[in-house]
Amino acid sequence: MKKLSRRDFIRLMGLGAGAAALNACQPILNLPAAPTSTLIPPTLAVTTAPRPPLEFTLRADKGEASILSGTKTRVWQYHPTVTGGDENAIQTLPGTYLGPIIHAWRGQTLRVHLENALPEPTIVHWHGLRIPEEADGHPRLAIDTGQTYDYEFTIVNRAGTYWFHPHPHMRTGAQAYFGMAGLLIIHDDEEQAAGLPSGAFDLPLVIQDRVFDADNQLLYNASMMDAMQGFLGDTVLVNGQANFRLPVAAQPHRLRLLNGSNARIYKLAFSDGSPLTVIGSDGGLLQTPVTREYVALAPAERVELWVDFSRYKQGETVKLISQEFVSSTEGMMGGGMGMGGLPQGIPLNLAEFSIEQEATDSPALPPALSNPNFDHPEDSSAARRFEFAMQGMIGTINGLQFDMENVTDNETVKAGALETWEFANIPGRGMGMMGNMAQPHPVHMHGVQFQVLSRKVDSAYQSMADTLSAGFVDDGWKDTVLTLPGMTVQVLVRFSEYTGLYMYHCHNLEHEDNGMMRNFRVA
Ligand code: C2O
Ligand code: CU
Ligand code: CU
Repeated sequence: MKKLSRRDFIRLMGLGAGAAALNACQPILNLPAAPTSTLIPPTLAVTTAPRPPLEFTLRADKGEASILSGTKTRVWQYHPTVTGGDENAIQTLPGTYLGPIIHAWRGQTLRVHLENALPEPTIVHWHGLRIPEEADGHPRLAIDTGQTYDYEFTIVNRAGTYWFHPHPHMRTGAQAYFGMAGLLIIHDDEEQAAGLPSGAFDLPLVIQDRVFDADNQLLYNASMMDAMQGFLGDTVLVNGQANFRLPVAAQPHRLRLLNGSNARIYKLAFSDGSPLTVIGSDGGLLQTPVTREYVALAPAERVELWVDFSRYKQGETVKLISQEFVSSTEGMMGGGMGMGGLPQGIPLNLAEFSIEQEATDSPALPPALSNPNFDHPEDSSAARRFEFAMQGMIGTINGLQFDMENVTDNETVKAGALETWEFANIPGRGMGMMGNMAQPHPVHMHGVQFQVLSRKVDSAYQSMADTLSAGFVDDGWKDTVLTLPGMTVQVLVRFSEYTGLYMYHCHNLEHEDNGMMRNFRVA
């Protein structure tokens, strides 16, 4: 397993309070300084040779992390051990709950042994992967304390930023919140040929929000408000660290952003107003780079940015921020907060980059990034509609709540079929004032990547949508798409050849745990 050097550590963890606390902990950091070339494992260099299978154990267990200065925070996390293949393919992030980061290649086989050392059932879901049913992490596959679950699958997805997290019945939100999430970064030859910044200049940034008590412990409760709008924190963590600050070189970087929050949406922008150059989304690289004034990133979505820090002078800093927006009618409830969290849509500082190092390279932004091989809408063989609505605290899809085995005819598709699915966010169902809450729903489908064909918004919700909708990146492959109140989104989805029971759901994890999830069957 790759142990991080101090330099790697700073690269991935920033210089937050936790990093300072770790300075006291010499044994971890007292490693020889690594040359830049070791920042990415040498085996991940360009080659067309097939990679041997990667085999590892993931032990889901309790742990501790230095997040704020002072008392360590009790967390739940995945502890990896490589048992076969390239042990440098898995990076651990010492001192944080987050991770590990798994690097894999298209065509490579992964064998994963999940060990459950938690006090309750769990299962791992590989978010974004086209994967056999038994490896998809359906809640009915959850294992009890002390049990193990073996995954074996071959990576067929394009290069991109994927991730993994727990998926047990009604406990996905809690387990993810207490720390269980990691990145699965897939590489392929097409991506290597694009000539993007790599190694120290390829930075994964996982954004999450949390609430801490006075003793630095994580607070999570399913208050009625949390159930209705999802859990919103008051402290932003990047890669598991508060006050994330990263020294960077004055040259282009590839930033891979994952919104790993339970419910918070970010309206990503730079503090100096520089536009964002987007090169990738959930399912890998776009065909060509696109530019946005800001990017809307809902829970579970990923976006990859090309950021050229050479536009700043040495010693300057620039912040990644989240701008103000309106995405719900929570205001009528008196602030819309669960237990100390900040409202959805409030401006936030996420990360600070300080330009401190000289450039060693200045690659140009490639005008073409990848061939997405999109399907054609005219080849779609069926159209289906799914209405997402909160009824008080209960989440529903077409009026139904999650049921472990139940699948309707409208949720049964043929293997390999190309279909048009329409996701409609229906505000205002339910009883009384609570029923009138309009909530955003990031809709996610397991086992597929899809294309966004169209969006439309009811006129009553147009002005609310206008505060966020210029930030959608619908240009590439997606597995999660944000529907705002009153919005209908059409996607074109090619189901895989793997048959079985998969799921689609709102990726607001409290909505998901409260029933806004259904099975679909590939027959
Ligand atoms: Cu990332 Cu079923 O979800
Ligand atoms: Cu998923
Ligand atoms: Cu939702």
